Amino acid sequence: MKIITPHYIMLRDRVVSGLSVAFDKEIKKIAPFEELIEEFEGAEVTTLREHSLLMPGLINAHVHIEFSKNKTELSYGDFLNWLYSVIENRADLINECDLSCMSHAIDKMLDNGITTFGAISSHAMDLEACVKAKQNVVFFNELIGSQANMADALFSDFTARLDASKAVKREDFYPAVAIHSPYSVHPVLVKKAVTIAKNENLKLTAHFMESIAEREWLDEDKGDFKAFFDKLLSQDKSVTSAEEFLDYFQNTPALLTHVTNANPKELDTIAKNSHTVIHCPISNRLLGNPTLNIKALNEKKIRWIVATDGLSSNYDLDLFEEMKISLFMHADAPLLEFAQALINGVTVHAAEALGLNTGVIEAGKNADMIVIDLDAEPTKELPIHLILHRYNISKVYINGKLEKGER
Ligand code: BEZ
Ligand code: FE2
Repeated sequence: MKIITPHYIMLRDRVVSGLSVAFDKEIKKIAPFEELIEEFEGAEVTTLREHSLLMPGLINAHVHIEFSKNKTELSYGDFLNWLYSVIENRADLINECDLSCMSHAIDKMLDNGITTFGAISSHAMDLEACVKAKQNVVFFNELIGSQANMADALFSDFTARLDASKAVKREDFYPAVAIHSPYSVHPVLVKKAVTIAKNENLKLTAHFMESIAEREWLDEDKGDFKAFFDKLLSQDKSVTSAEEFLDYFQNTPALLTHVTNANPKELDTIAKNSHTVIHCPISNRLLGNPTLNIKALNEKKIRWIVATDGLSSNYDLDLFEEMKISLFMHADAPLLEFAQALINGVTVHAAEALGLNTGVIEAGKNADMIVIDLDAEPTKELPIHLILHRYNISKVYINGKLEKGER
């Protein structure tokens, strides 16, 4: 058993002082130190410096580890130009990102206080790095391919990767299913993959309505995707509509990434089926996509969370940076309320969306916790200060184990 005494603790709905936390893999009890040391005699005791804040570890539900090599190779500013640049550079980027490159990205996330991540894996090249990660990992095996004549081969490649991730013997590693997007996956494949996720109770995710090009292609078979599909895939029509795509996810709550171009009817469907929207503001800005309409999500009571996307469309894997950019992009949102919602979107709400017993400092939750070195007593504006000041993270605990910082 361990007992930690920070100056302040961020609980679900308030910040407290004068309390300590007893934990092993799980948080056992939050109470005054004297009470805990009496109950858990012989516990390893850590007393933290003045103005230290214990808060839940951060959760990054959407990252592409295999693309961690990119810094300047991919073209930014326009979604289709970016996609062409991905296709042109994919083999080089992936071949050049070896285990140490991917582990470096994962360790950077750890330094940034990320204790859980959802890896969108295109080729399973990142399986070993993810298995070796110190974090909790949801390993989303991604299915892609819009051509009917390739469907069988692509599906067996997908199931082979899924099986490999299921064979992993590691605690806190969760095999899961990713369907790339409505425009890039044949409906036969979408249906089969959703069925697997549903029957086997695996987490399910998809990119949805990321670009204006996607909207135009799915609705009217036109726009920037027209030439793309014509040239690269000899298709003159989209394989599905957005509505049909969402229909496959009925009664199977999923994590839908981006959703920057969804129409009101689609948002109603998303709300009705309890899907979660993953907000990746930096990626959206860099790829020339619109900004997520969070006000509309709130009005429809759709849960939204915050993630970094991969280094293929970001310059860092830092949720504090991500929240800061979102705070400034949503310039008309009430500042404190929105800052609190962003913090919830990388902690409690992200844990709920991934179905994991973490994201809150509370008895019974896994002890995924980080120590933030504040420089003054927190005020009621703490969420704003956390996002603006990028305080030092001096300790990171994952499932009760100190993974960063001194004893
Ligand atoms: C496909 O494999 O069909 C595909 C891949 C990326 C974008 C669009 C389509
Ligand atoms: Fe993505």
